[in-house]
Amino acid sequence: MASTLVYGIRCHSCKQVQYVCRFITTSQKKHKGTVKNLKGKSPGAKKWLTNQLKDPYVKRAKLENWRCRSAFKLLEIDEKHKILKPGNVVIDCGAAPGSWCQVAAIKVNATEKDPSQPTGIVIGVDLLHIEPLDNVSFFPNSDFTNKDVQQSILGSLGGKKVHVVLSDMAPRASDARQLDHELSVELCASVLRFSVGVLKHGGHLLCKLWMGPEQNKLHAALDKMFTNVKVVKPPASRTSSSEIYFLAKNFKGVPSDKIKSVENARPENSNKNDIG
Ligand SMILES: C[S@@+](CC[C@H](N)C(=O)[O-])C[C@H]1O[C@@H](n2cnc3c(N)ncnc32)[C@H](O)[C@@H]1O
Repeated sequence: MASTLVYGIRCHSCKQVQYVCRFITTSQKKHKGTVKNLKGKSPGAKKWLTNQLKDPYVKRAKLENWRCRSAFKLLEIDEKHKILKPGNVVIDCGAAPGSWCQVAAIKVNATEKDPSQPTGIVIGVDLLHIEPLDNVSFFPNSDFTNKDVQQSILGSLGGKKVHVVLSDMAPRASDARQLDHELSVELCASVLRFSVGVLKHGGHLLCKLWMGPEQNKLHAALDKMFTNVKVVKPPASRTSSSEIYFLAKNFKGVPSDKIKSVENARPENSNKNDIG
């Protein structure tokens, strides 16, 4: 006898939920599933779904109850570079569906699992709806680059400074690599401007970028503001993906000759083209 398991996967490119069918026999042997609803999808979306089915991280995420495989990227980066600590205040930009927030909530003890450690705060923001998560505050359906949204996030902190800003934000992918890169740079620039205004001295920024020619400019801007800037690509980040992460550690403030940029960097004066 066979039973059918149907589950949904949210496509990274088109953001729609695709349904996957798996047939499970009584002997628990799984036969290769088929992806439904591919009609009319771009070649990129089809490729993404096929990769999802084969991906061991997707399977592990389901088994370990992470909202998506991205959890492993943050787990791997944090394991190696130790950025999240109990008691930290963390802002996660581009948080949906919420796996980085799950990881951050555990690492900063927002879950209060360890009463001997300080309790942290995790705030997530995304353009999309996000299912509620215990011990995490969300700003769903919100564009992080919007200065009113940034002000609301700041308001919710009640004057507390932030230890870590995370950004896994990605623009909606198109087939135009250069355009995607430029949109990704704009998202990073917005995160950087915001971070300058909210980070504690010694705080950290982890920010995703789709690689391209503007990468060095962004790296140089980060170098001026953080003691230690690295480009990292955790094993869970697919080699076929052009994504990398800037890990900028130990925020040192902004040099005096950049005071004007600091003013521009404050969310209320957000200036799209100024990243330095
Ligand atoms: C790769 S997903 C993030 C996955 C997330 N780190 C997790 O682990 O669940 C990228 C997210 O960035 C969001 N995003 C892109 N542009 C945004 C913006 N301007 N403001 C807020 N979120 C944005 C997308 O909606 C998408 O959910």
